[in-house]
Amino acid sequence: MLSKSIFLCLAISILDGASAAPSAPPGPPSKPSEIAREWWRDSFIYQIYPRSFKDSDGDGVGDLKGIISKLDHFVDLNVSAFWLSPIFKSPMVDFGYDIANFTEIDPIFGTIDDFTKLTEEAHKRGLKVILDWVPNHSSDEHPWFAKSVKRIKPYDEYYVWKDAKIINGTRHPPNNWLSIFLGSAWEWNEERKQYYLHQFAPKQPDLNFRSPALRKEMEEALLFWVNRGADGYRIDSIIFMYEDAQFRDEPVIPNSGKPADDPGNLRHIYTQDLNETYDLLLSWRKLLDSVGGEKRIIMSEAYTSLPNIMKYYKYGSNVPFNFMFVTGLNNRSRAIDFKRSIDGWLNSIPKGDYIANWVVDNHDNPRTATRFGTARADQTSMLAAILPGLGVIFNGDEIGMEGLDIPWDQTVDPQACYAGPDRYKAVTRDPERTPYQWDNTLSAGFSTNKTTWLPVNPNYKTLNLAEQKRVQSPTSHYHIHKKLIALKQHPVAKSGSTEVILVTENILGVVRRLPNASPLVLLINFLDQPIKVDASAWMNIPQDMTVYVASNSSGIPFGVHLDTAALNLPASASVILT
Ligand code: NOJ
Ligand code: MG
Repeated sequence: MLSKSIFLCLAISILDGASAAPSAPPGPPSKPSEIAREWWRDSFIYQIYPRSFKDSDGDGVGDLKGIISKLDHFVDLNVSAFWLSPIFKSPMVDFGYDIANFTEIDPIFGTIDDFTKLTEEAHKRGLKVILDWVPNHSSDEHPWFAKSVKRIKPYDEYYVWKDAKIINGTRHPPNNWLSIFLGSAWEWNEERKQYYLHQFAPKQPDLNFRSPALRKEMEEALLFWVNRGADGYRIDSIIFMYEDAQFRDEPVIPNSGKPADDPGNLRHIYTQDLNETYDLLLSWRKLLDSVGGEKRIIMSEAYTSLPNIMKYYKYGSNVPFNFMFVTGLNNRSRAIDFKRSIDGWLNSIPKGDYIANWVVDNHDNPRTATRFGTARADQTSMLAAILPGLGVIFNGDEIGMEGLDIPWDQTVDPQACYAGPDRYKAVTRDPERTPYQWDNTLSAGFSTNKTTWLPVNPNYKTLNLAEQKRVQSPTSHYHIHKKLIALKQHPVAKSGSTEVILVTENILGVVRRLPNASPLVLLINFLDQPIKVDASAWMNIPQDMTVYVASNSSGIPFGVHLDTAALNLPASASVILT
């Protein structure tokens, strides 16, 4: 049975808030990882949140056998790969992002044999399997941590430890660093009589990559999964890998208007984006390349400045996640905001064989249907499809799943729990993590259990995959996504030029062109009312074009001809013409 209560916020008690070598300046990046057309080019990659995808054993939590049973869904969609949020041994304080053994599968998800079976079955279907690599921290229940507390060598230096600062005889954290989950990033350990650093929850102590022994162990763990069939990694929280070796206070942002425990009060010059991080990444790039066989993908999660994100390309990340649609733009953004962001990204990609990527959604942010509104649920996928490079979708995007408000007494996300009942709504990630809606049976076909680890969105009765697959639903989100994913293989989408055009103040256009081919055109109406526009001459596109796909709520059938000189765009509609 589901021991749900242990996850509820009430079970989390908020507690108050290493020795390291000096940080060396980074060497110049070696030759960027070459290779011409890797398997992930011109494709979509699908993120699975394993707890919420498919439960095979009725415990209310998704698992590997569940994923295996649904692999044909990815074949239907024709994505090139799926990436899995962590499936490793974990006390699940951060639902798998707190790892207690980097080379073991958590029993809630299954066994190592299940993993082998998963990769075998995926590979048989031409699908790649990408794992989540969480190097910044482990769980405090990792055996390394207990040994570190006891100062057993070499584990004593596996974490970031520091003496207390004594002021007027009382103990204080060593400096002012704040955790992403609020409050001091330092936690006192009575046994070792030192503080340890945690950039996330206190049960997620930061690992110290200035320890050569730790680096070695982590390299072995990376290879462990590659040798068992993993086709690459998504690297978690990469910006947090190193901290200032002198442990200096971070500058306080004056008048931030934020509560004192909020990390938004500090300029994170000593805890994020340190130069050594890039060198570490490059060492992993080389390690994975040294294995041979097909090229392994590295995707990196860095919520940071555009220049810092771009740097990851040169140090071995194939997909430095582009989060502009997830965090940068929202339902108040206008066409010009989209144009500026998209052009800015495309113009910033370093010269060479690097590809763009467009993240539609993930497990840490409100769903796209929630962020942009249900009428615009397909808009981001439309952009991700027509823009050059890779699209990344999150389970549920392909059926337009919506975020579910979860009341405080059912909240389980640690970030929300630490924020407390008055502030949790702004940060909670539970709404986007509800179980996948397969059909209209019990628990949306996710589980045979009527109680699931997060509640199923009651809208599953009508909003579910089975319903959207029916031929009677030809313009469902599902059918739209199939067309969008297929578009990546279109020659013009693969190698055409790209122009992002402000057609009018409220209409964004994207044109992809290739000589001697009909262009591909995306038009988005940013108004919640219909607009009539002459796009033909302004965009330099044929007057007679055919609808390849249109957003679900637009009411535009696929395959009809439109006159681009007198185009009627319904409210909030997105349409791709060919
Ligand atoms: C980013 C992950 O996506 C998020 O879910 C997690 O809480 C933090 N990293 C800490 O690992
Ligand atoms: Mg299960």
